[in-house]
Amino acid sequence: MTTLTFMASNDTVAPSYPPSAAFSEQANASAALYDEAEADRLAFWTTQAERLSWAKPFTEVLDWSEAPFAKWFPDGKLNVAYNCVDRHVEAGNGDRVAIHWVGEPVDDERTITYAQLKDEVSKAANALTELGLVAGDRVAIYMPMVPEAIVAMLACARLGAMHSVVFAGYSATALKARIEDAEAKLVITTDGQFRRGKAASLKEAVDEAVKESDSVEHILVVRRTGIDVEWTEGRDLWWHDVVDRASTDHTPEAFDSEHPLFLLYTSGTTGKPKGILHTTGGYLTQSSYTHFNVFDVKPETDVYWCTADIGWVTGHTYIVYGPLSNGVTQVVYEGTPTSPTEHRHFEIIEKCGVTIYYTAPTLVRTFMKLGRQIAAEHDLSSLRLLGSVGEPINPEAWRWYRTVFGADETPIVDTWWQTETGSIMISPLPGVTDAKPGSAMTPLPGISAMIVDDDGNKLEPGTDHGEQASGYLVLDKPWPSMLRGIWGDPERFKETYWSRFAEQGWYFAGDGARYGKDGEIWVLGRIDDVMNISGHRISTAEVESALVGHSGVAEAAVVGATDEQTGQAICAFVILKASAHGGAETMVEELRAEVAKEISPIARPREIHVVPELPKTRSGKIMRRLLRDVAEGRELGDTSTLVDPSVFEAIRASK
Ligand code: PRX
Repeated sequence: MTTLTFMASNDTVAPSYPPSAAFSEQANASAALYDEAEADRLAFWTTQAERLSWAKPFTEVLDWSEAPFAKWFPDGKLNVAYNCVDRHVEAGNGDRVAIHWVGEPVDDERTITYAQLKDEVSKAANALTELGLVAGDRVAIYMPMVPEAIVAMLACARLGAMHSVVFAGYSATALKARIEDAEAKLVITTDGQFRRGKAASLKEAVDEAVKESDSVEHILVVRRTGIDVEWTEGRDLWWHDVVDRASTDHTPEAFDSEHPLFLLYTSGTTGKPKGILHTTGGYLTQSSYTHFNVFDVKPETDVYWCTADIGWVTGHTYIVYGPLSNGVTQVVYEGTPTSPTEHRHFEIIEKCGVTIYYTAPTLVRTFMKLGRQIAAEHDLSSLRLLGSVGEPINPEAWRWYRTVFGADETPIVDTWWQTETGSIMISPLPGVTDAKPGSAMTPLPGISAMIVDDDGNKLEPGTDHGEQASGYLVLDKPWPSMLRGIWGDPERFKETYWSRFAEQGWYFAGDGARYGKDGEIWVLGRIDDVMNISGHRISTAEVESALVGHSGVAEAAVVGATDEQTGQAICAFVILKASAHGGAETMVEELRAEVAKEISPIARPREIHVVPELPKTRSGKIMRRLLRDVAEGRELGDTSTLVDPSVFEAIRASK
């Protein structure tokens, strides 16, 4: 773990942005929520859980006796898909649009009502049952943002089978590792996907990934692009053959509140991705509650749009489970934000009348770079709330977002959370909180978070400005949508999240943070070996292992360096083997391609430097902190623990 050193950011000059009286008046959440949660936390969560429909009501709220393995609402039973679909139809809202789907090719659109979604999910659930899927089985979903991806997730939930969605930008190698770890029985994919107007194969990667699989019995393929695919008779099945002819009648079974809902693999500090496990009742309770209050959704009138991909946790919680449990109408967009032109997002907002828009800071910065004249050509007046997630949003981007998207009026919710937390933990409440640009502000009602020093002492809010004291962000009380473990590895779960402050029993999030003068939280970023590239989590170890997997590389060290556009960018330092062929330049290109192939194009390093040596401590540990200094062009920090401080001359010469 690196030491806590951060650039101080100065919030003394930042004005806060109180919500307008008009917004507050109509807001779902009021300050009373904080009081209620404060008065009786478990009673508060009971009230939130009761927003859902339980087939068997729970009598116990939380069993923390086997900490850190929590059980929320343990004796209750429910079905997640029923809560996200059927109950809205039963309430008479079957004709409400659930999904306005916008394909990447212009004018390729579909509108799906809740009644239609219920039919589609029921058909898929029947089809999966026919394929032998039963509760507890794992299904890998490797798909672009097509409606069938959402249907597939809900069909799994309906059957109590766990989905493991793998981002369709991941390589065959990354997909294989995830399929194998979860021992998935079925893979659902598409023939291909559209990216910037071109159809690229997706099934090919699945074929490659399952070649040696003992677990996968079938591959279910949605025809999306119409491109040719290789076909293995008996194993491969078309969605339109199997699902379309299935019955729309399906009775959802109620599952225990702690029945597993899904696995989602995320990067940790080692090369092996972790299968984060989420379960049923607690996850849905907090997803639904946060979606309702943080985004202030009015299901009858709002058009909500979260621009994430279902391959990430934001897509799980704020495209699938949060919005659908609240019965809202949402936009789901298949493609890249600037395809065919940089007007695309603005056109969609205008055309669909989007009222709530939730995106990542990296995209806001992309739009900033393109210039406000693009936004100015569109009527964005339908927008009434904006959200941000994935990394700290710099105050300049925050203000630009509010001015250009929000007509200087809309609240912005800067939401801090993680794959592991399942749903939002720290965020303003839009009708209540005076927001400060760049700060996620305070824990939501029902959530408890603290910033502490090395010894676990809480830092004092309101300390001086400039050189701010920073510390570790911890969650000191269990929360309903918390991860229940790492798939197949309870020891790693305890070690990763619960060992830093084991004595106190706190969850350490991996982030550094500091308090502002009003006690608000400023998240500063990861302090472990996890990088954040455009809001995507990638571990330094994963990239290092891809690099040393190349026959020409003897050693590699990877760091995340600050990048104006992507938040962080990947910088690699490699030592080549004497036997490596070709010049350094050819090797660098080869290695960048190797990483893209082994992990994903999103992990392709921005820079690779061929160096004669790496800076190491006497115990042989690579000093990444110093490499970060080099990558960011800073004065070197303390080099006294290095075996050979002179290595830096050679490293600098390589830049
Ligand atoms: O470092 C924090 C950053 O993203 C990490 C979690 O990444 P992931 O599990 O991929 O989930 C991303 C979407 C929830 C955190 O440890 N992060 C996320 N949101 C924010 C953030 N950092 C600062 N401010 C945020 N709003």
